[in-house]
Amino acid sequence: MNLQNVNFIQSVILVFCFGYVQNKRKTKEIDTITDPNSDINLNSLQLISKYGNVPQRHTVITEDGYIVNVLRIPNKGPPVLFVHGIGDSSDSWLVTGPSSSLAYQLSSLGFDIWLYNSRGNKYSKGHVKNLPDKQYWDFGYEEMGYQDLPAVIDYITSITNKSKIYYIGYSQGTTLFLIMCSLRPEYNDRIRQAVLLAPVAWLSNTKHPYLGWFANNHKLIKSVLDSLGFYNIFENNFLQKIIHSKICRNDVPEKVFCELEYALSYGLRNLTNLNTDRLQVISTHIPAGVSTKTFIHFFQIYLSKRFQRYDLGAKRNNLVYSSAQPPEFPISSITAPVNLFVSDSDWFSTVEDVKTLRELMPNIVSYVEFNKSLDFTHLEFVYGERAKSLVNDPAINIILRDLYSNSIK
Ligand SMILES: *[C@@H]1O[C@H](CO)[C@@H](O)[C@H](O)[C@H]1NC(C)=O
Ligand SMILES: *[C@@H]1O[C@H](CO)[C@@H](O)[C@H](O)[C@H]1NC(C)=O
Ligand SMILES: *[C@@H]1O[C@H](CO)[C@@H](O)[C@H](O)[C@H]1NC(C)=O
Repeated sequence: MNLQNVNFIQSVILVFCFGYVQNKRKTKEIDTITDPNSDINLNSLQLISKYGNVPQRHTVITEDGYIVNVLRIPNKGPPVLFVHGIGDSSDSWLVTGPSSSLAYQLSSLGFDIWLYNSRGNKYSKGHVKNLPDKQYWDFGYEEMGYQDLPAVIDYITSITNKSKIYYIGYSQGTTLFLIMCSLRPEYNDRIRQAVLLAPVAWLSNTKHPYLGWFANNHKLIKSVLDSLGFYNIFENNFLQKIIHSKICRNDVPEKVFCELEYALSYGLRNLTNLNTDRLQVISTHIPAGVSTKTFIHFFQIYLSKRFQRYDLGAKRNNLVYSSAQPPEFPISSITAPVNLFVSDSDWFSTVEDVKTLRELMPNIVSYVEFNKSLDFTHLEFVYGERAKSLVNDPAINIILRDLYSNSIK
């Protein structure tokens, strides 16, 4: 059974809002949802084309048979791999538009841009064996880090003949990096520099107000979803898109509903902190779909207070890991040069939890921490009005400095 969206409560609230909005609206119809050329309705490839580049779509097959699509804005410079957050897609690096997106910025500097799409999201559905749903969705972020990333990096090398890449990861995109470089340490040498935005490993100090409730009830939630045949959540759907296109605008009173949704889900305190001109485009492109197992693993991390492999239950843990408790990811094996960006106002990637990571990781080149007074929340690393000055420009400097220092050696 293929579920469009089990985020039921959210949908009910949004349907309610939609009705309210339709009743209240006296102004002219301002939305562009019906315009096929509006950015709201364009996918990653179309967005890249619209802004003057010729995109490529590359299909990578992982060792375990998953079909992962990676989009490329080709150029002669060194390859840069962009890895999105949970339930998101390559869209995340494009929706803020050519002047604010790090991908476009690096592209215009001559870098060869590769945008990953995690297995199971709207652009990367499929398996060579056409598995039944239950089997197909039996993965979490551990498989994305262990299987997808190495396959994608090997693929980039096979096309470009360049053995090393720059890596830009956001949120879960940083988790994947940590998993790859710890469990498959031979890939450390393939990274020129990694820029990790809002890194997520330990979740012991998360400030999310109800993540704890979900975590404590995750076994019940999973068994209910499993029994209903729901193995994936937060699928991209049209209803959500229409509603977001109407409420996520800074120039309508209904924005309070959008404000509420982003405040409750991500701790965003002021909608104007997101890229104001692009709010409608951003909100209509997320979410993009994810397996429930991906969330379950994060809940396990939260409850165990360890950054550990997926907990299969004591019996299977013994078989697979030779211990009753899942082993921790061996962070000290991550020798690739890493640059961290963290904010004190982030609910998910907290300064305290990143401290644990920093104490174990051997090769941290730079560390940037945004203090409380900036009130810089999780989504803002990619979608924020201030991302360009606080994140993108410093990240570009890290990459250019590396490029320069290696070219004069
Ligand atoms: C790839 O790189 C190797 C070594 O750097 C070089 O010998 C070879 O000619 C290159 N191949 C292509 C197709 O550029
Ligand atoms: C949000 O930020 C804008 C612009 O900085 C400001 O005018 C507005 O008062 C803020 N809203 C709230 C609720 O703090
Ligand atoms: C917080 O960061 C801003 C911007 O870097 C800086 O101007 C300010 O002095 C800092 N505040 C504190 C309390 O450290």
